[in-house]
Amino acid sequence: MKGLILSGGRGTRLRPLTYTNAKQLIPVANKPILFYGIEAIVNAGIDDIGIVVGETGEEVKAAAGDGSKFDCKISYIQQDAPLGLAHAVKVSQEYLGDDRFVMYLGDNVIKDGINDLVAEFRNDKPNSQILLAKVANPTQFGVAELDGDRVARLEEKPEKPKSDLALVGVYMFDKSIHTAVNSIEPSGRGELEITDAISWLIDNGYRVVPHIIGGWWKDTGKLDDLLEANRIMLDLLERDIAGSVDGTSKIEGKVVIEKGATITGSRIRGPAVIGEGAEVINSFIGPFTSVGPGAKIKNSEIDHSILLDECSIENAGARMQDSLIGRRARVFRTEGLPHVLRFMLGDMSEAGLL
Ligand code: DAU
Repeated sequence: MKGLILSGGRGTRLRPLTYTNAKQLIPVANKPILFYGIEAIVNAGIDDIGIVVGETGEEVKAAAGDGSKFDCKISYIQQDAPLGLAHAVKVSQEYLGDDRFVMYLGDNVIKDGINDLVAEFRNDKPNSQILLAKVANPTQFGVAELDGDRVARLEEKPEKPKSDLALVGVYMFDKSIHTAVNSIEPSGRGELEITDAISWLIDNGYRVVPHIIGGWWKDTGKLDDLLEANRIMLDLLERDIAGSVDGTSKIEGKVVIEKGATITGSRIRGPAVIGEGAEVINSFIGPFTSVGPGAKIKNSEIDHSILLDECSIENAGARMQDSLIGRRARVFRTEGLPHVLRFMLGDMSEAGLL
C-alpha cells in the first residue's frame, strides 16, 4: 500500500499566517501538523508516501525532506492549482499506479492514529473505506447518509445535512478510484470533489465501507481547532527537561523543555512545551501552551496559546490567552509617554484589547 498526503490548498481561514507559510506546517505541540499525518501512515506499516503540494511546495519539501527522518520514502507531486481533493488524486495517478492507498488530508490530526483502520482495509479489501465521525456542525464537512451498514449517499458541505456523520480526512481506495475521478465533473464551487468520486463508486456498484471512529480527530482549518489540537497533543507528551532551569524557577506537571532552552525566574505549568533555544525570563507559561524554538518571553504571562519560532513577548501587562503568534512577531509594552497602543499588524491580523 502507498500513502498520499494532500498538502496543497490555500488555508484562507488561517490568514495572515498562511500568507507566508503552508497551513500544514503550522506547529501543534511544536510539531508541524503535516508530520502527525506522515507518522500515522508510517506507523500503519506504509513506507512509500506521495505528498501533493501546491504553491507552498518548496517549504513543505524543505520541512519533510526525502522521508528518511520518518523512516519512509517521500515523493512530491505538484498540483498546479487547488482544484479539489479528487483533482489531487488525478494528478497523482502516475505515482499511485494500481496500488491500494490511504489518502490523508495534511491538515487533519487523528489522536489514535490509523493502524487498525489500515489493517481492516488490508484484510477486508473493499474498493474504498471511509472514516466518519459525529460532529456538531455537519454543514462544514462532507456528510454521509447511511443505510444500515452501507453508505447510501455523500454530500459535500450540505446546507441541510441529512446526518451528523462527517467525513474525516482519511480515505482508503483501490485503483477503482481512478475511474471515478476521471468520470466526475467539477462541483458548483469549481472543484473536483472526492465526495462526488466516492458517490460515483457507490452508484456504480463498487463496495464502499464506512467506519465510524470514536476517538478524537480535528480538521485544523481555524484558530480554535488549532488550539484544541495543541491541547490534545500536548497532553500526550511525557515530561522531559533537557534545557536549563535556574533555581528560582518552578516546573509543574507534564512539561517538555527542549535542549538549549533557558528558564529563569519563571513558572511553567504543564502540559506545555518550550522549544529549542527559547528563553523564558520572569514569566508564567500556563497549561496548553507551545513556545516555539528561539522564542523569547520576558515579564509576561501566557496560557492556552501557540507561539511560533523566534517570536518575542515582553512586558505584556495582562495574561495572554487563546493566541497564535507568528514567526518573529513581537508583542511588547511601549515605553514613555504618551501611553498609546501601537500596532503594525499584517493584513487580516487580529488584536484583542483589554
Ligand atoms: O477535514 C475533513 C473534510 O476535508 C471533509 O469532511 C470534506 O468532505 C473534505 O472536502 C475536506 O474539506 P475541507 O474544506 O476541510 O478541505 P480543504 O480545502 O481544507 O483541503 C483539505 C486538505 O487538502 C488541505 O490540507 C489542503 C489539501 N488540498 C485541498 C485542495 C482543495 C490539496 O492538496 N489540493 C486541493 O486541490
